[in-house]
Amino acid sequence: MAEPLRIGIAGLGTVGASVARMLAGKTAELTRQCGREIAVVAVSARDRKRDRAIDLGNAQWFDDPVALAGSSEIDVFVELIGGEEGPALHSVRAALEAGHHVVTANKALLSRHGVQLAEIAEKKGVLLNYEAAVAGGIPVIKTMREALVGNTVSRVFGILNGTCNYILTRMEAEGLSFEDCLREAQRLGYAEADPTFDIEGHDTAHKLSILTSLAFGCRISADDIYMEGISNITQADIRAAASLGYRIKLLGVAQRTESGIEQRVHPTMVPTGSVIAQVHGVTNAVAIETDMLGELLLSGPGAGGAATASAVIGDIADIAKSRPGFQHGPVFARPVRELEPYKRARMRAHEGGYFIRLTVQDRTGVFATIAKRMADNEISLESIVQHGDATGEEHKTVVLLTHETTEAAVRKAVESITRDGPLVDKPQVIRIERAA
Ligand code: HSE
Repeated sequence: MAEPLRIGIAGLGTVGASVARMLAGKTAELTRQCGREIAVVAVSARDRKRDRAIDLGNAQWFDDPVALAGSSEIDVFVELIGGEEGPALHSVRAALEAGHHVVTANKALLSRHGVQLAEIAEKKGVLLNYEAAVAGGIPVIKTMREALVGNTVSRVFGILNGTCNYILTRMEAEGLSFEDCLREAQRLGYAEADPTFDIEGHDTAHKLSILTSLAFGCRISADDIYMEGISNITQADIRAAASLGYRIKLLGVAQRTESGIEQRVHPTMVPTGSVIAQVHGVTNAVAIETDMLGELLLSGPGAGGAATASAVIGDIADIAKSRPGFQHGPVFARPVRELEPYKRARMRAHEGGYFIRLTVQDRTGVFATIAKRMADNEISLESIVQHGDATGEEHKTVVLLTHETTEAAVRKAVESITRDGPLVDKPQVIRIERAA
């Protein structure tokens, strides 16, 4: 049997501890599948004394993850530290430079430095695997990097943040407050260390930027993502969406348009009957539209120790199964020199339907003014409904659904209505996404 594959794990938080535990518990099975043992020979974490309920055997302890990354005692460096700079970046770079394969779950790191790291991996002829970085346990990277070769992707979209989907699901199902749901998500270990990364859309954006590169063969461009989080979604939006046959999800969407690539993260109305609307709780889903397949939908657990560890172990096993001389596939599905520059489509050019909720003074002519501003901007309405409002007799809620229009037209219409003066609260605008 081949020599054991020597693993160094940096970061023993929820995911790192789970990976170590699973590798220890499944040694025999993994050895049979890979034809060699996967041995954790070294680890690094901030707090050496913390009880993690794992047996690290004789693994060598490194206080400095960069030293572990460069150690000649390992073959694979597993980075589970997190963060886009600092120890995560330095250690991954050091590991690649030392000629070690790298497995990481770090979407922020790849989103910011992925192409540069891929260049080093290519130069050194080693693997940089990151299945766990996008959608937790769902094998979407493998699918896009390997199985969909030959397909032309037109759109990729999905629920990429378990914390947000968990919050929106519970808010809708139980009428709970946003804060209570967030606290519960944190308690269950879904949320990032800083939960604003989840709820303001950064985590989804990081993951989307990676999917965009794989989908369209372009360099990663995280700075070109339009982003809105879910912190201003209210029970009023959720109820109005439901009454119109929609459900609100935080989606990341990347699509090719005539003017370039659109990347956006925002709360989105999806038809209640669509498959993606049935994705509840911490579950993630990724829909990939291609010329050869139509729409492919992958769904599964997107966060949590065991689900993420499943993806990390899959990546490690791929390395264990590879042999000298085996030609590794490129990190972002094509060699770095073949990645096209990212061409951004302007958000104002986005085309789609819109949900607009306005809280207005209850006086004659308001309804007509709103309708006129829509017409002025050539926005065709699918429906316009007025409701009484619990905040007081003198206020009414007006909910509009538009037919396909542009972001620019909607922004101009809402700005005009705001200038007209009937609004008593911030207008709410939620984009509608076509979904099967
Ligand atoms: N905080 C992330 C989520 C974990 O909620 O989906 C996985 O990236």
